[in-house]
Amino acid sequence: MEPEQIKKIRLLLVDDETQFRSTLAKRLKKRGFAALQAGSGQECLAILSDQPMDIVVMDVKMPGMTGIDTLHRIREKYIETEIILLTGHAATQDGVEGIKSGAFDYLTKPVELSHLLSKIIQAYEKIIAARQSREAAAYKAHIEQQMIATERLAALGTLAAGVAHEINNPLAIIYESAGYLGALLQNEELADMPHKAVFEKALRNIESGVKRARTITHQLLGNVRKSEAILAEVDVAELIKEVILLIQKEAQDKEIVVKLQTDDDLKPIWADPNHIRQVLINLLNNAIHATLEGGAITFEVKAAADDMFITVSDTGMGIPKENLEKIFEPFFSTKAPGEGTGLGLFVTKEIVEKLGGHIRVDSRVGQGARFVVQLPSGSKLKDQGV
Ligand SMILES: Nc1ncnc2c1ncn2[C@@H]1O[C@H](COP(=O)(O)OP(=O)(O)OP(=O)(O)O)[C@@H](O)[C@H]1O
Ligand SMILES: [Mg+2]
Repeated sequence: MEPEQIKKIRLLLVDDETQFRSTLAKRLKKRGFAALQAGSGQECLAILSDQPMDIVVMDVKMPGMTGIDTLHRIREKYIETEIILLTGHAATQDGVEGIKSGAFDYLTKPVELSHLLSKIIQAYEKIIAARQSREAAAYKAHIEQQMIATERLAALGTLAAGVAHEINNPLAIIYESAGYLGALLQNEELADMPHKAVFEKALRNIESGVKRARTITHQLLGNVRKSEAILAEVDVAELIKEVILLIQKEAQDKEIVVKLQTDDDLKPIWADPNHIRQVLINLLNNAIHATLEGGAITFEVKAAADDMFITVSDTGMGIPKENLEKIFEPFFSTKAPGEGTGLGLFVTKEIVEKLGGHIRVDSRVGQGARFVVQLPSGSKLKDQGV
């Protein structure tokens, strides 16, 4: 064992014979072991209640509280501490009883220093191994917890998509019926119908409610219907230009400049252009929403080895640290009630991951946000049979 590690061992010598104890402590010190000392079982327990010890080397035969009594007390309270007992010459029985009660081992007096040293080291190695296996178990539990959370989210997404699908038909019926009633109200014979304006207003409310419900179901279903996916060579830079045009009005209303920077020799990627468009629209919409008047949003497209990186950065309000993990969860939104579905980033992440890519975010409150989408280039996608 390295001297550095030996120095770290917290060692306590317990013996009522002061002379023996201090001589042993001195000899241990010469070998690099620093030990505290106690003259009785009570004193030993007092020290332990004050500071944790790795190893207690203890005489069995002590007046008052014996070594075995003390051992029992230590075992009850300090599970991590190992105990090495020192027994009288003809007192093997004590040592055996000590081991039965949970001592690491025993040595008979007079103690040979090299024996004691190797016992201390063995005991310490046992402590380290136990510590490591406890840490490994805690880490495993943590990972499992995370996996459960991820699976739960995925299941929730699938469930939500299923529900959305089922809701689409009744929504269509409600929408059409509202339209039909609206048309009926235009009939001449109903021109003087009492409360006509109230009916009309209620129908408009129904229609706008249904529209809102539809945006939710469409978001959820957007990337689920695999059969509808089309594969094509997508020129990402062209697609970004198209999306910027599409959302130009929202940006202009807030006097936000949207820029695009691309590498010159970008190769197309192999994907469903509708999916990539949805990713771009979601990211751009979020950026516009988060950015104040006069801010800027920049798209950047870069190719590196087998991957393409699409970055969307804004000068907006940024995302608080505690929300960074949550923003990709379904239905998480900080928008006013009724304004956002909280599905934009969830769907975006699903699309990107289905293509074998990743999405990550960098942001600080007040300093804007930066979303980076990494997509494998065409050849890799084809290998995966996407
Ligand atoms: N560029 C950004 N800057 C700051 N916050 C952002 C940004 N993009 C997303 N967010 C945060 O992440 C949340 C979730 O975004 P997401 O797109 O999933 O839903 P939403 O935008 O709230 O709703 P919808 O997409 O239906 O309009 C947002 O409510 C916002 O708090
Ligand atoms: Mg959004």
